[in-house]
Amino acid sequence: MVIDEIYNLACPASPPHYQADPVHTVKTCVYGAIHLLELAQQCGARILQASTSEVYGDPEVSPQAEEYWGHVNPVGLRACYDEGKRCAETLFFDFHRRHGVEIRVARIFNTYGPRMQADDGRVVSNFIVQALRGEPITVYGDGLQTRSFCYVDDLIEGLVALMAGPSSVTGPVNLGNPAEITIRELADRVLMLTGASVTVDFRPLPQDDPRQRRPDIARARELLGWAPSVPLSVGLEKTVAYFRQHLLAA
Ligand SMILES: NC(=O)c1ccc[n+]([C@@H]2O[C@H](COP(=O)([O-])OP(=O)(O)OC[C@H]3O[C@@H](n4cnc5c(N)ncnc54)[C@H](O)[C@@H]3O)[C@@H](O)[C@H]2O)c1
Repeated sequence: MVIDEIYNLACPASPPHYQADPVHTVKTCVYGAIHLLELAQQCGARILQASTSEVYGDPEVSPQAEEYWGHVNPVGLRACYDEGKRCAETLFFDFHRRHGVEIRVARIFNTYGPRMQADDGRVVSNFIVQALRGEPITVYGDGLQTRSFCYVDDLIEGLVALMAGPSSVTGPVNLGNPAEITIRELADRVLMLTGASVTVDFRPLPQDDPRQRRPDIARARELLGWAPSVPLSVGLEKTVAYFRQHLLAA
């Protein structure tokens, strides 16, 4: 079998999905990585892991650079995903050191865009779908926690650039948009773009919800010449247009 490149993107990725069957999430992260690393080893393929900013947990530093080892609760509700992805990174580096497998590890920060599932459970799709359906927007906590949102096209360019980069660039490499906003501000932007006049409903903050999230992308800039180019205003407009068309058609 001839396989040149493997992208391992398989994993439930939103909190409701990865927490629905947490043991299965850990198995997906760990067994999935082992199976694909063994395949890469057999085929001599280059393999990229879709890791995550969740490896930084609830970070004590901002922005988060790759040198930061993170602040993860290993026994909390999010651990099946965070620790699963951390273990997958470990496996990637061990296969690289022990078996010479050519690896690339991308730490992806919150990514959004058209073709997200309406019931995906991530904040951008939740807010847009709620606004378009005329339902209250649900904000967890006081809404002052921050996230940095990367448009999907930018992220894909980053992943492809990382895969194509020199073999010395194993990663981990942060891929994300450093423009940081509060969740409350995101809700306001979605309300403005959709023209919806719905209330904002504040709910309790889920366990271990990170207070802040912002990538340091100096490494991606230097090693890959990559940086995101789509501002949130443009990406959100495209995402709202997608959901407007698809929710109304459904
Ligand atoms: N979107 C983001 O903001 C983001 C951020 C960080 C990391 N990531 C990672 O990027 C990857 C893609 O995320 P996405 O946002 O496109 O999510 P997604 O839910 O759209 O895609 C994940 C895919 O993985 C598949 N999958 C889940 N469990 C599987 C299993 N056991 N075997 C085979 N396939 C399985 C699902 O069917 C789905 O097609 C994931 O690994 C995710 O953890 C995404």
